Amino acid sequence: MYERSKSLEEIIKRRIERESAISFRDYMEICLYYPEKGYYTSQRKIFGMKGDYLTSPYITPLFGRIIAEQFIEIEGYLNKLHIVEAGAGEGIFAGQVLKRLEEKGVEADYTIVEPFENLKTVQENNLKDFKVDWIDSIEGVKNLKGCIFSNELIDAFPVHLVESTEDGLKEVFVTLDKGEFREVLMKADSRIEEYFKKLEISLPSGYRTEVNLDCIEWLEKCHDALKIGYIITIDYGYPSVDLYSQKRNSGTLMCYSKHTVTSNPYISPGMWDMTSHVNFSALKLWGEKFGLSCLGYTDLANFLLGAGAEEIMKEIMVNEGYSSYAIKFQSLKTLIMPGSMGTTFKVLLQSKNIRESIGGVSRKPFIREEL
Ligand SMILES: C[S@@+](CC[C@H](N)C(=O)[O-])C[C@H]1O[C@@H](n2cnc3c(N)ncnc32)[C@H](O)[C@@H]1O
Repeated sequence: MYERSKSLEEIIKRRIERESAISFRDYMEICLYYPEKGYYTSQRKIFGMKGDYLTSPYITPLFGRIIAEQFIEIEGYLNKLHIVEAGAGEGIFAGQVLKRLEEKGVEADYTIVEPFENLKTVQENNLKDFKVDWIDSIEGVKNLKGCIFSNELIDAFPVHLVESTEDGLKEVFVTLDKGEFREVLMKADSRIEEYFKKLEISLPSGYRTEVNLDCIEWLEKCHDALKIGYIITIDYGYPSVDLYSQKRNSGTLMCYSKHTVTSNPYISPGMWDMTSHVNFSALKLWGEKFGLSCLGYTDLANFLLGAGAEEIMKEIMVNEGYSSYAIKFQSLKTLIMPGSMGTTFKVLLQSKNIRESIGGVSRKPFIREEL
């Protein structure tokens, strides 16, 4: 039921009163995506310096320019290029890629999967110089010969919160206590038990973490959309062995607003971005179950270097001179130096019906390679 006149906090509290408790996953989904009032669906400025956080395309336009080289390599294998980007934010990455493709005379279809009208309007405005199609769901993509790309999409899916107890695995639900949000542990959704069984993970008692079941559904839909081609997923996260280590025994859920961070997800619902780290082992495992090959897993730094970052920097030096080179290299360093976003962010390359790999995953990563 859509309630226009109430605040998001009131809407959630009324729903909890009706149902007595809702899963943390549903709470998070409302906070992020409730029509017109959720974090991503309202009119607030989210991205960039004036927003809440910076993503790679805002750090440097070289992000899209370098990844465009990967799309060109893919075009070489497929003799055709259709890029489908999901979670495109304000369309900044798309603009960077399309500009580079245009400069190099490479033709490509570009589709953005955007479920939210507010973001689609911003993207249309930012991309008016380019030919782009929009669809509201990946299910609208059929027989794709190309590449499905996302940057920081998966971390924005709502997650189940779970805690391992002496009585087995429990799931966090949100209820009300004297009108305030309070967590209660209830029996976990059976799909969560199954999730850990398939990953062969057993959590020690007291361990809390997140389970992103939506990303598995997402991956299956990507598989169904592709006839032949690739899925490039960029996000922060770890393989299971690092994600479920003792030092992450309270999980990885974080909330961001105005470049500040909190781990408390119950402050001003809808005003904070809520994210959790991606389990790349899960993406690989379920991808293989659906028929996707895992062609590589690396850190963003080595992905950009393998994709041609050095060649592009040389091109800038020759065409634009040293001072332009120095300024651009300074911003690129945030994405290619060990210990920076270059190692926090990972890249997973999966494919369907094609085994040729691409330059981005050809270098030895700074991180653990096994998933
Ligand atoms: C952290 S933002 C990513 C921003 C952008 N990629 C960038 O680099 O600036 C995550 C985005 O994913 C979008 N999103 C969430 N679920 C989605 C879905 N099922 N399909 C497409 N986009 C989705 C959100 O609306 C949000 O814009």
